[in-house]
Amino acid sequence: MKKIISPSLLSADFGNLQAACEMINASEAEWLHFDVMDGTFVPNISFGFPVLEAAKKYCKKPLDVHLMIVHPEKYVSRFAKAGADILTFHYETTENPLEVIELIKAEGIKVGITINPDVPVSVLEPFVDKVDLVLLMTVFAGYGGQQFIEASYERIAELKEIIKKKQAKCIIEVDGGVNVQNAAKLFESGVNVLVAGSAVFNTPNPIETIHSMLNT
Ligand code: DX5
Ligand code: ZN
Repeated sequence: MKKIISPSLLSADFGNLQAACEMINASEAEWLHFDVMDGTFVPNISFGFPVLEAAKKYCKKPLDVHLMIVHPEKYVSRFAKAGADILTFHYETTENPLEVIELIKAEGIKVGITINPDVPVSVLEPFVDKVDLVLLMTVFAGYGGQQFIEASYERIAELKEIIKKKQAKCIIEVDGGVNVQNAAKLFESGVNVLVAGSAVFNTPNPIETIHSMLNT
């Protein structure tokens, strides 16, 4: 199974995003995670299109965009044009997830669906065979630097069962509270992609930290 690290730009030094992108380019991270928060679905506001365009300019790796916004359907096209390679939206933010999935696919980019830790994993069943990726939040969306919710391992196992039952091909990503200590257990649990913000950017040597996450 392929192991992917997707460092979250949310924890980077915003005064020097070019350096953050160059670090990613030089590292073993395969993706860059980009958290879009609207202050409505989540109680925090991060960044949007112009910053994504800047990341696209400097980062050579695929941009893994995580939308934490209401009305995602309104913005799919603009995020695709600004440089998203993978676009993941929250199940909770739309009455018609299938419509959003189709809109993202029509842009020719990869599509992901995600849920917060208080949403039953079973809601994902109708969608696992229609998306490239399922993101399980392992903290409540909104802020970096929160503690990993241990009950997430059961949710990962449940998602794996659903994927197996539906013979779906999607990969599993987790986001929130991931660090060098829990990375190996998460990969062993069947997670393909680990998002890590503070655990990567708030260390003296992020490139080495990414290496450790892949090799512990
Ligand atoms: C939280 C974001 C995460 C965040 C993770 O809402 O979706 O991507 O950046 O940060 P850490 O790794 O510090 O928990
Ligand atoms: Zn995220």
